[in-house]
Amino acid sequence: MVLKHWEQQTALVTGAGRGIGRATALMLAAKGVQVAVNDINPDTAHETIETILAQGGRAIPAIGDVSNEHDVIHIHEELLAQHGGVDILVNNAGVILKQPLQEVTEHEWDHILAVNLKGVFLNITHAARHMAEQGYGRIVNVSSIAAKHGGGYLGNVAYGASKAGVASLTRGAAREYAPAGITVNAVMPGFTHTPMTDAMSDETRTRILAGMLVKRPAEPEEIARVIAFLAAPESGFITGETIDVDGGATLD
Ligand SMILES: NC(=O)c1ccc[n+]([C@@H]2O[C@H](COP(=O)([O-])OP(=O)(O)OC[C@H]3O[C@@H](n4cnc5c(N)ncnc54)[C@H](O)[C@@H]3O)[C@@H](O)[C@H]2O)c1
Repeated sequence: MVLKHWEQQTALVTGAGRGIGRATALMLAAKGVQVAVNDINPDTAHETIETILAQGGRAIPAIGDVSNEHDVIHIHEELLAQHGGVDILVNNAGVILKQPLQEVTEHEWDHILAVNLKGVFLNITHAARHMAEQGYGRIVNVSSIAAKHGGGYLGNVAYGASKAGVASLTRGAAREYAPAGITVNAVMPGFTHTPMTDAMSDETRTRILAGMLVKRPAEPEEIARVIAFLAAPESGFITGETIDVDGGATLD
């Protein structure tokens, strides 16, 4: 069984310019991991890199659109050539739609599925080649409890469908990659305090909090902590799992 210590590893965290991805990148860097910071927005990605470097960590840019195979290939080729490839992949980049299903256009549907689901598929398959060769890898996908309740709180039915796809992809990929020493797991965050939810109306906020046992949104670090747990070298016996981190919203 191959085991790699944190300091020997490179992690690619997608959508790490802000929110949960940024918190995850900082947390992994604090453990000694070299973090490749992906975001479609180069400015916020570089802010995350500067913060990690200022804290004495190691960070490198991996700018690009996770839904674009050309960008994804470029990112993984560079990481392989310059840094020996990705040991930890955190598929965090995501977008949300707020309008009712009836108002969603074909273009909007395709976009949300492309970023939230195809992006996960593309990064898994490109990262897994190197992981399989070395016989070690940790993949953590960021789904959502919307995968279970079907969206609807924010009008996000398409979002829920994309995140349910991520949950299924997690289980299937775990089965296929287990013989190669790669674990594939997911977190299902509930309401989390990030720019994604900042624009939420008071009415929606009150409605969501009413369904939670812990009457506050999570801080991004509380989601990042579970991602880092699943990404740990010692977590090799957990695979195909989805973990709710939702303040008691789901209770299943
Ligand atoms: N905030 C919540 O309440 C919550 C709840 C459940 C799940 N999630 C999930 O957690 C993840 C992070 O959410 P967040 O709240 O931090 O969101 P956020 O909007 O604050 O951050 C998402 C980041 O992803 C980047 N991004 C968007 N499209 C991209 C693309 N095509 N390629 C690369 N980067 C891209 C954005 O630029 C942004 O920096 C998402 O997958 C989201 O669906 C969030």
